[in-house]
Parts: sequence; structure tokens; C-alpha cells
Amino acid sequence: MANQTATLEMTFLGHSAFQIRHRGQTLLIDPFLTGNPVAAVREEELNPDVILLTHGHADHVGDTVALAKRTGALVVANFEIVNWLSEQGVKNAHPMHLGGQHAFEFGVVKLTIAHHGSSLPDGSYGGNPAGIVLTLGDHKVYHAGDTALFSDMALIGEMGIDVAILPIGDNFTMGPDDAVRAVQFLQPKYVIPCHYQTWDLIHQDANAFAETVREQTEAEPVVLEPGENFVL
Ligand code: NI
Ligand code: MN
Repeated sequence: MANQTATLEMTFLGHSAFQIRHRGQTLLIDPFLTGNPVAAVREEELNPDVILLTHGHADHVGDTVALAKRTGALVVANFEIVNWLSEQGVKNAHPMHLGGQHAFEFGVVKLTIAHHGSSLPDGSYGGNPAGIVLTLGDHKVYHAGDTALFSDMALIGEMGIDVAILPIGDNFTMGPDDAVRAVQFLQPKYVIPCHYQTWDLIHQDANAFAETVREQTEAEPVVLEPGENFVL
């Protein structure tokens, strides 16, 4: 019962990277900073306790190896990515897989399906891509990773999502129209768009997306520039 309403502070770091602070723990999701043209921080500035990865692509694994080696942060990812990280010298890692949930000290992690690829930066097999549902106190955050739209997002919505982080960049993932359908399936309280301003190929108007979300869903859109915070 204690601290059930502890503040959750999310910082958009650019592309699909987020930092989440909750009860003294610092979590990173998909920390792609080096080589990320919209990165809000440098790898050296971060001190995570936990790093969570949605899939193996370089724009998501990003600086994980350097961060994990420097800080000793626990990395949570699928089994194949954890094996690869171990070969890179990252020993503090916890393997999971799709549909699996695990209660860590910092909170509960569930890996959900995502429809995408997951090869690792050196071409190694990276298993299947995932979305992540994070339960931190009484907050639930869903980071969809890179994915196409899928109607089973309605099942993820049944978990009671407070914040949904969705890609809207199109070309490699859902575009804005499919992301609005995703919001309708997920029914989150808030939706934060990502994966849309890093390169010209995935450039989208996040404010137009936000307007459509307001018109066609019950969710409150939250458009963050890299470096901006959202507190819940
Ligand atoms: Ni990807
Ligand atoms: Mn990506």
C-alpha cells in the first residue's frame, strides 16, 4: 500500500528511447543515443539501474553494451538478445520472451508481441521483436517497440494501460493512421508518439497525429520533444 502513488517521471530521449524514474530507480528503454541525430543526451550522462530492450535493431539496442558495462545496469530483453549481449561481455542480463511476465524489484515486466524484425547490429539472430508492458507501482506503461498495427492490442489494452508509447513514423512501423487505430484498441489514458522525427524517411507531424487522437479516441496525446518530461 505504501508508495502506490509514487511519481513516475518519463523523459523522451529521442527516437524510441525513454528514461523512466520511479521510486529511486532509473530505467531506460531502447537507449539509442550515439549516432541518433535527435538524441537529447549522451551515453556518458546516463546512469541507469535497468535497461529494457524491445528488439535487436541498432536504433534500439543503441548504447546498451557501453551503458551496461559502465554502470552494471540490469538488461532485460529476449533470450536471443541476452545471449548476444553476454558474448559482448554484458553479464548482468535477464532473458525473457513473448507472453512472459516477471516481477523484478523495480517493477513487473511483460513482453508482448510486436510485428517487425529483430536482427542484431552484427547480423546475429535476435529472436522475435517485442513490446514491453511495465508495471511500476500502480502505473502501467506500454512501449510498443517497432511494430505494425495488430488487433490483439485490444488484449494489451485489457491490462489497463496508463501510457502507451507508439511508433508513428510509417515505412518501418505503423504510421499515424494505424497508430490512431492502435490507440482505439489499447484505450490508454495517455499516448506518446515516437520513432517519427529521427530521419527524413520517417518524418511525421506529431501535432496532426495528436489532433486526430483527440478527435477519434478518449486518450490524451502527449507530444514530447527530445529532452522533455512527462510526469504521472
Ligand atoms: Ni526496428
Ligand atoms: Mn526502429
